[in-house]
Amino acid sequence: MTDLDPSTPTSGIGITEEVKQARRLAFGGYAADYHRVRPGWPADAVAWLLGEPTSTLDVLDLGCGTGKGTAALVRLGHRVVGVDPSAQMLEVLAHQPETAEVPTHFAGAEAIPLGDATVDAITCFQAWHWVDPDAAAPECVRVLRPGGILGMAWHRPDRSVSWVVELDERAERTDMGSGSEALVVAGFEPFEEREFAYQQTMSVDDLVATVASWSHVAISPRRERILAAVRALGVEVAAVSPDDTLVFPYLTDAARARRL
Ligand SMILES: C[S@@+](CC[C@H](N)C(=O)[O-])C[C@H]1O[C@@H](n2cnc3c(N)ncnc32)[C@H](O)[C@@H]1O
Repeated sequence: MTDLDPSTPTSGIGITEEVKQARRLAFGGYAADYHRVRPGWPADAVAWLLGEPTSTLDVLDLGCGTGKGTAALVRLGHRVVGVDPSAQMLEVLAHQPETAEVPTHFAGAEAIPLGDATVDAITCFQAWHWVDPDAAAPECVRVLRPGGILGMAWHRPDRSVSWVVELDERAERTDMGSGSEALVVAGFEPFEEREFAYQQTMSVDDLVATVASWSHVAISPRRERILAAVRALGVEVAAVSPDDTLVFPYLTDAARARRL
């Protein structure tokens, strides 16, 4: 996978376990803002992650958070169950019209509270980097039916756009991966990867809230300074748009693999 996400610690970055834990737990503190400003998941990417099924599937949305991926799965007509270790994120999910009926479990990927061979597919949107893969991989194998599929996706800012490069600098984003490491999960076939483009129109305030929701910014002692610099950039970018909005260009890295 290439540089994954503003909140993604990839290998080679060298963040400590302590920092990773602080960032992993930071989401719950701003769950409502997270839900409001973070990008959703395009239907074509979600269908691809599931292996482009022609029938309804039982899907586990692992690390479902506030339900941004969960809602996309529901819209495609699948039966979904969500699992996440943040009570605050699950609380937001439970209050969204599209996901209010989705059953959820307060748990991590390392001990999934589902029976053996109970789902056809597992999705993990912007969350696999937070799990312990040694414990999570056998759990994914266990809950998937034979031939089941594991699909993961990450959004990342599209750095071919010049203001996004400037944004990364102002946001002190340093944890971009090398792009050289293939995703491997024990018990699964080699991952197929595909990139999708996704754009989100937002206000300057939303841009600031988006960056504030990046986990490295959320725990930074320079948070306020970073956000002021981001706001100044957002004002400049929005000034050339007719309606004072800006279009945040994302690339979505998607990966899928069948259970062995
Ligand atoms: C960046 S959010 C992604 C949320 C959602 N999937 C989305 O697309 O918006 C990462 C989520 O991973 C969850 N998470 C952290 N550690 C986890 C673990 N060990 N197992 C499962 N989920 C975890 C967090 O609580 C958070 O909700």
